[in-house]
Amino acid sequence: MRRGLPPHAFDGRPHIAIANTASDLTPCNAHLDEVGRSVANGVYEAGGIPLDLPTVSLGETQVRPTAMLWRNLAAMTIEEMLRANPIDGVVLLGGCDKTIPALLMAAASVNLPAVVVPGGPMLTGTFRGAPLGCGTDVWRLSEDVRAGTLSQAEFLQSESSMIRSKGHCNTMGTASTMGLLAEVLGMTLPGVAGTPASDSRLLEAAHVTGSLAVELVATDRRPDAVMTRASFLNAIVALAALGGSTNAVVHLLAIAGRLGVDLTLDDFDRTGSGVPLLVDLQPAGRFLMDDLYRAGGLHAVLREVRHLLDPAALTVTGRPLLDHVGEARIHDPDVIRTFREPLREDAGIAVLHGNLAPDGAVVKPAAASPHLLRHRGPAVVFDSVEDLHARIDDPDLDVTADSVLILRGCGPKGYPGMPEVANLPLPSKLLAEGVRDMVRVCDGRMSGTAYGTVVLHVAPEAAAGGPLARVRTGDMIVLDVAARRLDVDVPASELAAREPAAAAVRAFARPDRGWQRLYVETVRQADTGADLDFLIGSSGDGVPRESH
Ligand code: FES
Ligand code: MG
Repeated sequence: MRRGLPPHAFDGRPHIAIANTASDLTPCNAHLDEVGRSVANGVYEAGGIPLDLPTVSLGETQVRPTAMLWRNLAAMTIEEMLRANPIDGVVLLGGCDKTIPALLMAAASVNLPAVVVPGGPMLTGTFRGAPLGCGTDVWRLSEDVRAGTLSQAEFLQSESSMIRSKGHCNTMGTASTMGLLAEVLGMTLPGVAGTPASDSRLLEAAHVTGSLAVELVATDRRPDAVMTRASFLNAIVALAALGGSTNAVVHLLAIAGRLGVDLTLDDFDRTGSGVPLLVDLQPAGRFLMDDLYRAGGLHAVLREVRHLLDPAALTVTGRPLLDHVGEARIHDPDVIRTFREPLREDAGIAVLHGNLAPDGAVVKPAAASPHLLRHRGPAVVFDSVEDLHARIDDPDLDVTADSVLILRGCGPKGYPGMPEVANLPLPSKLLAEGVRDMVRVCDGRMSGTAYGTVVLHVAPEAAAGGPLARVRTGDMIVLDVAARRLDVDVPASELAAREPAAAAVRAFARPDRGWQRLYVETVRQADTGADLDFLIGSSGDGVPRESH
């Protein structure tokens, strides 16, 4: 899309960067070049000059050891390029899990006029006549393979049936969640979030967004006027009603941190925990993203919870979010429930504290088994993912359905990058007995497409000196979600006197150079968003010196 520019392009008209995370290595975002062309048309139409700005891209299924290790890198590089280049505003094109958070973190830091076009989910694919949800059904079918009820060949066939169009995962995973929350935060053209990637209305919206970016520059409307504490609290309400990903917790905290907005982990519980689940999408429910779109989409959901939303929160249009929601209607009550008849009461993310998680941990009750939300059982401890893989299927492993599986050494510093391993696989001998869920506790994250009674983001992590490092196999773990507690039933003096488990504290990697070293030395814990300590707080678009 390189273009030549005539002299009048430099007569003072706004220069709009199109920050584009398209990449062949990020299949979820591969269609964003096409979206960018529509944005560019809209920029021209409104009298601006569009400028392509390819950025670091993160493909969730491709990047190792975990895309989360690189989220802050992507955010930092995008931030620096937005500031260093001569641009007046930016359109942010993202989709796959970490890309929209990274773009928003960058835009928040630079605070240039900015607007997001979420790339949108893929269409539903079917396998043997049944719809398949990305991620969620992969986890489920892979357990069937391990349980011996599905062949490897059938499993691969199901995978290619599932990925049938462009776009990101079609479940209410992190990509869907963050695309929708970008709109709730006020940072998209109203009504665009959730539009499937292959729907022509996405290109239409992209065109209008390009024109809107020019208007944002003219009116000097900047991210800090849009993403206020009120917008973040609205996003927390929406996260609960949508049954969104637990990863949104770390991403929203990180974006808020970049703006200097005072948002804490406990805000998620205070604001979100009483909100009912209205959307019947996998992993919490049955349907998929194009069902949500045809059922009325995000606005129909927001209308149901409008009394919980702050009416003052603005969007990039300069008008409040609630103005745009208007009279949105539910077209399919199986997919979107009313506030009075929700899928489930109290759906928000619960924030736990206790002697195992002094700075907090989270659990998503909507994805958990109700009978396990209050549980006491003996710990079976794994010090790393490698330790887990080596022993979890050992027929001699001393484990029952009542055991609490603990996986530590997987936090931001420990792994590093805090991978999505918290929904650890169940022991195959228990799977064979029909067990499909157990309490699991981890200092890592889990995929937004995953389900199970999983306590995650335990802070501080084992590798940062958290008490998780002092738990031993056989200790009694007490989970009480209603009371918001996660404890190990060991006297405080005994726990304090124990040596932290070397294998979990040592950290699996001690990187001696490059990004990974910078990351491990400066990353903060999950309870504040796992950003680098020196990137917190807004810094603006000022450039101190000329190039020569
Ligand atoms: Fe990109 Fe799921 S792999 S959104
Ligand atoms: Mg994911």
